[in-house]
Amino acid sequence: MPQYSAKVMDHFAHPRNVGEMPDADGVGTVGNPVCGDIMKMYIKVRDGVIVDAKFQTFGCGAAIATSSISTEMIIGKSIDEAVQLTNAAVADALDGLPPMKMHCSLLAEEAVKSAINDYLLRTTGVGLPGMEAKDGAACDHHHHDMAHGDE
Ligand code: FES
Repeated sequence: MPQYSAKVMDHFAHPRNVGEMPDADGVGTVGNPVCGDIMKMYIKVRDGVIVDAKFQTFGCGAAIATSSISTEMIIGKSIDEAVQLTNAAVADALDGLPPMKMHCSLLAEEAVKSAINDYLLRTTGVGLPGMEAKDGAACDHHHHDMAHGDE
């Protein structure tokens, strides 16, 4: 059993912003194929600012704690700021994670980026660099309503 900080335990036992957001402006689902954990992140955006975020995580305690604190870290931030959230910052905010649990914080970073990517695709038709042709992990791409194709 790895040693967890009090903050990790707190966010694990009392996760913030858990749940679905039916009217989200961006939704991202990511998974780690090795451990099988899945994280879904929802964001609501007004005037370029993330005004609300929710998550659903099917995974380990560290994955729950990192997604929980990630929602707190991005609420109130602009899209430009939120996209810079790194897994190291997430782990720092939790007073650290055991080395074998750092990948859980990476999942949180990826979930945030995936939700932002979805928001950008919906609003501008252009996603984050390198994420436009994302395959696999995400659930189903419900809309194909972009104005133009890729090629
Ligand atoms: Fe996979 Fe934590 S063990 S996200």
